[in-house]
Amino acid sequence: MNKWGKLSLGMVLVAGLMTGCGNNNKNNSAATDTSANTATKAAAKTLTLGTSADFPPYEFHKVVDGKDTIVGFDIDIAKDIAADMGAELVIKDLNFDSLLNELSSGRVDMVISGLSPTPEREKAVGLSDIYYKAEQAVVVREADKDKFATMDSLKGIKLGVQTGSIQEDIAKGIEGAQLTSLGKISEIVLQLQSNRVDASIMEGPVAKAFVKNVKGLAITDAKPEVADDGYVIGVKKGNDELLKQINATLTRLKAEGKIDEYVAAASELAEK
Ligand code: ARG
Repeated sequence: MNKWGKLSLGMVLVAGLMTGCGNNNKNNSAATDTSANTATKAAAKTLTLGTSADFPPYEFHKVVDGKDTIVGFDIDIAKDIAADMGAELVIKDLNFDSLLNELSSGRVDMVISGLSPTPEREKAVGLSDIYYKAEQAVVVREADKDKFATMDSLKGIKLGVQTGSIQEDIAKGIEGAQLTSLGKISEIVLQLQSNRVDASIMEGPVAKAFVKNVKGLAITDAKPEVADDGYVIGVKKGNDELLKQINATLTRLKAEGKIDEYVAAASELAEK
């Protein structure tokens, strides 16, 4: 399934985009990529990442060397955090709306999943410094590109959004909009293709990746506004030790220009 670009409409595409659903709860160990530290430690500690790998170029499934692998720039950052800690990274692919609960109950140690900071999330979990910023976008069927060129034009229409996301909140604020909330972005794309919803709100980079790889979709000129356009990493409330380590790695990665590098590489990978 590494040739997204060659796929067209239909079930082949569906199967490709929906790998994220079928693989829920399947652990994807990135042990081989962590630092040499890991090998030298007798009982290596693990760092469990919770993510919703339906979100190219942040986190998505890709066949690498014949093996289904979770890749993306969030994953690159997670690997660096684990390496800096001398820990082995374990990845859990879950629905986005379950991630913060998994954190609070201690089933995952950190959430990196294109997570936007909101006042409610700030109350529920610990949030890191912002590591990247992006804008929101509106995705529609190509023929409707001009019809839905403003936020006003979305009033009263059928909108598909990810459950528990800030996009769901944005959509709730659109007068008369009829919402379909779904667990994975790939499911929303299917709804768009089959005319069950007329538009979706997504982060710009995700919208670009899907539009590049799915025939018949387009990004409109409508610009959804959000209070915070940055992404943060979540930890369990009170886990200040881990938060400190995460922020230290983020500071290093930013200073080294690594995050922009990871974003560029992941975007390229998502488009292949
Ligand atoms: N940034 C949005 C939010 O925090 C959406 C994130 C969705 N992430 C994902 N991996 N599907 O609500």
